[in-house]
Amino acid sequence: MLADLLKKSKRTIVYTGAGMSTESGLPDFRSAKTGMWEMEDPSKVASVTALNEQVEQFFQFYKQRVLATKETGPHAGHRILAKWEQQGLISGIITQNVDGFHTMAGSKNVMELHGTLRKVHCESCGKDYSNERYAQDEFYCECGGKLRPSVVLFGEMLPEEAFLQAIFESEKADLFIVLGSSLTVSPANQFPTMAKEQGAKVVIVNLEATEMDDIADLVINGRKIGEVLKEADEELLR
Ligand code: APR
Repeated sequence: MLADLLKKSKRTIVYTGAGMSTESGLPDFRSAKTGMWEMEDPSKVASVTALNEQVEQFFQFYKQRVLATKETGPHAGHRILAKWEQQGLISGIITQNVDGFHTMAGSKNVMELHGTLRKVHCESCGKDYSNERYAQDEFYCECGGKLRPSVVLFGEMLPEEAFLQAIFESEKADLFIVLGSSLTVSPANQFPTMAKEQGAKVVIVNLEATEMDDIADLVINGRKIGEVLKEADEELLR
């Protein structure tokens, strides 16, 4: 089914959330029991308020996120998506993930809506640093300002360039495939609707049901993304 849609489409956009990286060993945010927001309150650790008012907790939370992405990397599913782009089967990936795994796997046209954990920067002077700083408990810039990961915190705007490009790509797509997102965070969850309104077919692959299953032309629940992509890839080779 997914393979047929891919073959027929002229412009496919893939949209990924935290569920894309759970098979690499990174927890997602909202899965029951294992989701990160089950254990942490995002407003206390991943927000502008936390950076300003509870900075030690903020540094430690993001240090752990940085270390987790360094301990693992892309899985076979990320690599299949990179191969599909090379083969002209997909045009690009819009991602809410900050782990950088799509780029590491070889994908080129990647729009990172929530920024990246691969860099940190000074909130005062803007200077960029590698995330090694966080890994080594170095949380301040040479100017004395706080270093913060280059991700979008709760309470911040999305990066304009990635956001505008994602709108453009969503509206041009004729197939829009969502992989591993609960589709609950706004405005990031508006892209499937934008694509649908411009006539795209929408596919949602997610372990649990999502709030947008109603608008989808194909919903695959209860199966892992890695398996679904592998199966579609094998079907495409036949
Ligand atoms: N295969 C398929 N689906 C999976 C898999 C898997 N291997 N692993 C997890 N999932 C599904 C879960 O069932 C869940 O519904 O992926 C979904 C992930 O949803 P969330 O945890 O809500 O992640 P996401 O949608 O990316 O969250 C959006 O919220 O707090 C923020 O900044 C954070 O970018 C994140 C945003």
